[in-house]
Amino acid sequence: MKSSIAISKNKIISEIDPRLYGSFIEHMGRAVYEGIYEPKHPSANEKGFRKDVLSLIKELNVPLIRYPGGNFVSGYNWEDGIGPVEERPRRLDLAWRTIETNEVGLHEFMEWSKEANAEVNMAVNLGTRGIDEARNLLEYCNFEGGTYWSDLRKKNGAEKPFGIKTWSLGNEMDGPWQIGHKTAYEYGRLAEETAKAMKLVDDNIELVVCGSSTSKMPTFGSWEMTVLEHAYEHVDYLSLHCYYGNPENDLENYLAQSLDMDRFIKGVVAMCDAIKSKKGSDKKINLSFDEWNVWYHSNEQDKEIKPWQVAPPLLEDIYNFEDALLIGCLLITLLKNADRVKIACLAQLVNVIAPIMTNKEGDVWKQTIFYPFMQVSNFGRGVVLEPETKSDTYATKDFDEVPFLESIATYDEYKKEMVVFAVNRSKNEHLDFSINVEGFEMEEIVETTQMSGYDIKETNQEKEKVNLSKGNSIELQTNSVKTKLKPLSWNVIRISVK
Ligand code: AHR
Repeated sequence: MKSSIAISKNKIISEIDPRLYGSFIEHMGRAVYEGIYEPKHPSANEKGFRKDVLSLIKELNVPLIRYPGGNFVSGYNWEDGIGPVEERPRRLDLAWRTIETNEVGLHEFMEWSKEANAEVNMAVNLGTRGIDEARNLLEYCNFEGGTYWSDLRKKNGAEKPFGIKTWSLGNEMDGPWQIGHKTAYEYGRLAEETAKAMKLVDDNIELVVCGSSTSKMPTFGSWEMTVLEHAYEHVDYLSLHCYYGNPENDLENYLAQSLDMDRFIKGVVAMCDAIKSKKGSDKKINLSFDEWNVWYHSNEQDKEIKPWQVAPPLLEDIYNFEDALLIGCLLITLLKNADRVKIACLAQLVNVIAPIMTNKEGDVWKQTIFYPFMQVSNFGRGVVLEPETKSDTYATKDFDEVPFLESIATYDEYKKEMVVFAVNRSKNEHLDFSINVEGFEMEEIVETTQMSGYDIKETNQEKEKVNLSKGNSIELQTNSVKTKLKPLSWNVIRISVK
């Protein structure tokens, strides 16, 4: 089968906001305790953080981490996590029915994130709490000094403000499972008033307001419109969440789920713009896809976990090769929509539906999905080039026309490098793949890698089997590239250009 993309230096979708490669750490399962923090582990630093985990997070090059939840934040008192550790309360976490020791709190996480080279997207509790808690937390984090909360921060050891720029107004407030779940009207009003108060404290911050927990929510659409009707002028981003799975074991349909993500994004953009014109506003609301991933492998085992434990192994999905291919397609989809998706967070980062797994007192290892994320996050920088794609298509249960080829190209002016990411969704056939380029002269192949040839259910649990290998041979000319993409493969081609 033949396939191609045509790109031009002058046809740019958008600059890429580095926050597109964000991730997420929630106080749940073994994400914090036994994940990033394990003071007795041989690789722990003096603060108790695992250096082996930090080093893999640096490999992923994650610029932003959403914290501390997730569902957890809707019952969380941030004040429980400050001050002397031995005086901090142990609390029931009602979201996951576990016990939170508060050993790791705000200061520890801020210090850790610095070591991980990441900024924090801080979520406030709009479930059980509200405006007052949000403005106090912001004053504590970002105000220079000379007030009750900022001086308390100094007393607790942080002389300089944390300077947190990105803030989330609660989490999944449309979900009946959420502690303090609200109607769109109730949340829209609360988000509006909280946003106003927070921007009075610090007008440099950017705020994310909650959209729908998935596009399958019965309130999808009306939720966004009502919330934006109230909060539009006071917020900067609207959130989207989505998790995919293959419980029916239908590979063709599973790999097509990125089309659902694309439809979801475009639908939400349309809603933002509809409210913009209704209000006659000059302001553009962009999107924060702040939870996305595959999540279904651990559903059954989670039912067996007894409540009220500290850091039980919750949501420990073990990812396989087909999941890595889908993650590649989802990353390409985020890039295709980079003109409006400015923030995205792979949910989550360590142990909980995560690319990085730890064994207690033992090793750290990379899941299959680690690789495509790591490559796009490291090499997909600069601008996204608009591809004109040609590919045969196939039909599935949910989609009439699924292209065998999923591909995008980015260009990093600083490195003078063009990078092409491509997935061949075909189970059996190679794709003859050509890249036709206008406006650049291609010089040489910097690197070409692929992930292919594995059983689709292969995982890295026993041994890191699913990995990257050298890409297929490439015929390079000044304005075109020709290669073959193996059946079911993830491919990255880096080319130096002038
Ligand atoms: O990421 C796991 C959970 O998924 C989060 O806590 C919640 O926001 C979503 O439902």
